[in-house]
This record gives sequence, structure tokens and C-alpha cells, in this order.
Amino acid sequence: MDDQLNPAARRARANETDAARDGAAAMTDALYHSTFMRACRRESVPYTPVWLMRQAGRYMKEYRDVRAKHTFLEMCKQPEVASEVTVYAAHRLGVDAAIIFADILLIIEPMGLDLEFAKGEGPVIHNPVRASADVDRVREVESSEVLASLGYVMDAIRITRRELKPDLPLIGFCGAPFTLASYICEGGSSKNYITTKRLMYNDAGAWHELLARISRALALYLNAQIDAGAQAVQIFDSWVGCLSPDDYREYVLPHTRSVIENVKPGVPVIHFGTGTATLLELIREAGGDVLGFDWRVSLDEAWERVGRDTAVMGNLDPVALLANVGHVRAEAKRILDQAQGRDGHIFNLGHGILPETPVGTVISLVEAVHELSQR
Ligand code: CP3
Repeated sequence: MDDQLNPAARRARANETDAARDGAAAMTDALYHSTFMRACRRESVPYTPVWLMRQAGRYMKEYRDVRAKHTFLEMCKQPEVASEVTVYAAHRLGVDAAIIFADILLIIEPMGLDLEFAKGEGPVIHNPVRASADVDRVREVESSEVLASLGYVMDAIRITRRELKPDLPLIGFCGAPFTLASYICEGGSSKNYITTKRLMYNDAGAWHELLARISRALALYLNAQIDAGAQAVQIFDSWVGCLSPDDYREYVLPHTRSVIENVKPGVPVIHFGTGTATLLELIREAGGDVLGFDWRVSLDEAWERVGRDTAVMGNLDPVALLANVGHVRAEAKRILDQAQGRDGHIFNLGHGILPETPVGTVISLVEAVHELSQR
């Protein structure tokens, strides 16, 4: 019977069993019954839980002060520093979950790619994959290598779990196979994904091999984060919205699905993408216990399309936080009204907080969500 369910439904079923308690290594009663974890399982909550992508970032003075002393990669690689900014942001904002301070691109280093965060430029990969032959030099990552070369992420998770309020869940994360492949092929951020799509269309064999290698590494990485103390994991497919539905189905869906299916049973997976209004049904097919989308689609319509038996996350436009607090409250209310107090809504932005955002407005948003969603 289970074979006939799609992955999301299969995982949702797994969550109804004791596996939900066993999967996450650091699960306590307080964490298991937190509003965030209950919403992931579509159980009733006293108010809608909220957290914000990029909640620890440059919009916060305390982050900028720490950042002034380190490069971004140094911050990621020093577990005490990564943990400090994670915990500070979550406690200061009063959100219902923390997300470990790290980056989706860290995993590409053990895969043999030369990563730099250049000043003012964002990420640069100095030896991108440009042709089929380059795929062979993308290294297969073994479990022991994930633990060794990315051990700083797991150390940061262990420290953070100790420092966080005991009922505040910690989210681990990774990039999705497509979004990571786009950085690996383009050598950085991109507008038209020309190199990525050229490989995809010209040599489907090499493309699938690249995504399969990435996907195997990602599953190991997510499970290592769970073993270190993450209660849930999020997969960021930030740039998947550049694909047609047919291309997503053929070139991407099986790989994302394999990552999600290989996450320890019972640990909620949040599957997030932007620009996915035309892809929602396929994203649901790829799986995830919670599906996250941006503001370009309305929450009620998106929830209807992915199915009411899935939890959802979203979806305020991060730019709304640059408007006055009255507007922010009204927008929060609009989204909460669309959710109608149904079980399984986690409030978030549709993408990360922008550096220009006033901290006070972010705190007002968190308060507004809690207040306006009281059951
Ligand atoms: O959400 C959080 O608070 C956790 C930390 C986090 C970061 N990056 C910290 C970061 C998370 C979850 C990410 C994920 C990430 N990284 C994504 C997916 C989410 C998204 O925004 O779509 C992507 C695409 C990346 C890759 C990346 N990292 C880019 C393109 C950049 C440069 C652009 C920018 O905003 O500066 C980064 C750097 C980065 N990652 C910063 C932070 C706080 C800024 C670094 C700095 O302090 O200079």
C-alpha cells in the first residue's frame, strides 16, 4: 500500500509512528511538543509558529559586529562563532525555531570545488563544471568525509543545541541538487543559467551523474546534521523556478526525491523553493513534510494545489519588511487569514531577510504572527 503513496505522504505516515521520536538524536519531550514540531506534523497548536529565513544576517547589528572580525567562511568554520549568531538571533527575535548558521555551498568544498565568498560579489567557484568531462572530477563524498571535512557544521549544531532554550527546535539544512548544480556549473550566482542548462540539454548522462553525486552527498550531510542534534531539516531549492515543469520533472525531480527519501524517517523535511508557482504539484511529488514557497503565489491557492495533507511554510515578501509596521501587520493578517487557523502552517518569509531590514520591524512581525494567530 505504502508504495502507492507519493513520498510526501509516505513520510507523513512515517511521522505518525514512533519513528518520529527515534529519528532525531536530540529529541526531548519539550522539543517534540514545541509549536514548530507540532506544525510540521500538522498537529494543533496554540498559535502559528514563525521563523525567518536568514534570521541571523547582516540586517542585525550584532551580526555585523561579529562579521567585522571574520570573513563569512571563517564564521561558518568556527563552531563557537556560528553557534553564537544562531542562538542570538533566535532568542532576540522570539521565533519558534532556530536555523544553524552555515551556507548551502559548504558541501561543495569536499566535492573538490574551490569556493570563495569574494567581497561584494557573493560566492565564486574557481573551478566550475563547464563540460561533461568536468563531471568526473566532482568527487564522490563518503560519510566519513562529510563528518571530517564538514565537522565544523556538526560541532556548531552540538554547541547550539546546548545553548538554545530547551524547547526551541534547531533546523539543519542543505541546498537542493539543482540549486547546488547551478552554482557548480555557473561558478557563482546566475541570471539565465546558461552553463547549467547547456550541460543539462547537451549531455543528460553527465547531468544526471552530477546530480546523483550531489544528492548522495546531501543525504549523508543532512543525516549527520540530524545525528549532531537538528530536529528538522530544510532543503533550499532557491533557483529552481527558472525551470519549465517538463524540465523539472525530467532533470531534477528524481534527484531531489532521492535526497528526501534518504533522510532518517520521522525527521520533518521542509522542501523550499522560490518562483515555484508553476511547479507546486511536481515539488509535492518530489516530497517533503512541509512545502515552502514564496509570495508570488497565494498561500491558500498553493496549499490547495499541494494538498491539505501536507504542511506549508510561508510566504511574506521580504520587501514588505521595509514598509511601515502597520503594513507588515496587515500583510501578516492577510496570510494568516488565508491559512484559516488550519493545522500545519508555519509562518515564514517567501525568501531570506534583506540586509536593509530594520530589526524592530522583524520583531514586530514575530509578535504580530503570535498575537493574530492565537487559537
Ligand atoms: O537562514 C539563516 O539564518 C541561516 C544561514 C544561511 C545563510 N545562507 C547565511 C549566509 C542559510 C540558510 C543560507 C542558505 C543559502 N546560501 C542559500 C539558500 C537560501 C537563499 O537565500 O536562497 C543560498 C542561495 C546561499 C548562497 C549564498 N550565500 C549567496 C548567494 C550569498 C551571497 C549573497 C548575500 O546575501 O550576501 C551567501 C552569503 C551568506 N550566507 C550570507 C549569510 C548571512 C551573507 C554573508 C556575509 O555576511 O557577507
